[in-house]
Amino acid sequence: MEAIAAVGLTKGFGDGETRKVAVNAVDFTAHFGEMVFIVGPSGSGKTTFLSMISGILRPDAGTVRVKGQDIWALTNDQLADFRLNTIGFVFQDYHLFPRLTTAENIAIPLILKKQDWNESIAAAEKFLEVVGLKGRGAVLPVKLSGGEQQRVAIARAIVGGPEILILDEPTASLDGDTGKMIIAFVKEKILNAERCILIVTHDARINEYADRIVHMEDGRITGTGKGTE
Ligand SMILES: Nc1ncnc2c1ncn2[C@@H]1O[C@H](COP(=O)(O)OP(=O)(O)OP(=O)(O)O)[C@@H](O)[C@H]1O
Ligand SMILES: [Mg+2]
Repeated sequence: MEAIAAVGLTKGFGDGETRKVAVNAVDFTAHFGEMVFIVGPSGSGKTTFLSMISGILRPDAGTVRVKGQDIWALTNDQLADFRLNTIGFVFQDYHLFPRLTTAENIAIPLILKKQDWNESIAAAEKFLEVVGLKGRGAVLPVKLSGGEQQRVAIARAIVGGPEILILDEPTASLDGDTGKMIIAFVKEKILNAERCILIVTHDARINEYADRIVHMEDGRITGTGKGTE
């Protein structure tokens, strides 16, 4: 079974003359065990596409099946559970809470799942170790470098064990070496046979890590390949 199967996925914004079709009848599939890159110019619809795949933005037309389940046929409560349990989303600018410690930031999904506070913090500490930040749980995000904050955001996205991990421009604000390190880390330590990872990137320096590269242009998928930009 595919991890993700989107068919005819379409989303537009605005009305009349200002109407803009951001994603235009896109078909897309991804499998478990795969790390897929989505590349394309600014405004080509990448973030809009990811938002529909991850249950954040309702499509105008088309279907998204995740593990066979039509996610846009779910009730709002079911959809919230889907986002919490199945999807991990890493935003370009981390979206860490500045007044929470790194461990508390990572623990948020567990606390939302009503797990015990102390157990959630202990699990967060373990995931800090996974992302190479052992013992940094008590510091505030401002004390961390951009690459370290990105790793905290990744730890928060994976702490609940989501099968689908989505990273939107994870290396955009990092220098080349740090960006490569993060992606190598995700591929080696986070990707496994039960997980599917989608990464939006403009960063050709990390293409070597992709299992497959999908090109988007003007709301459409224009090609797919490996190792080309
Ligand atoms: N909430 C919105 N309201 C109106 N227009 C939007 C909205 N979100 C996206 N768009 C438009 O849809 C198109 C696709 O935007 P999207 O953010 O998906 O592109 P992108 O490929 O992620 O670009 P970037 O690489 O700059 O992040 C753009 O023309 C954008 O202006
Ligand atoms: Mg975007």
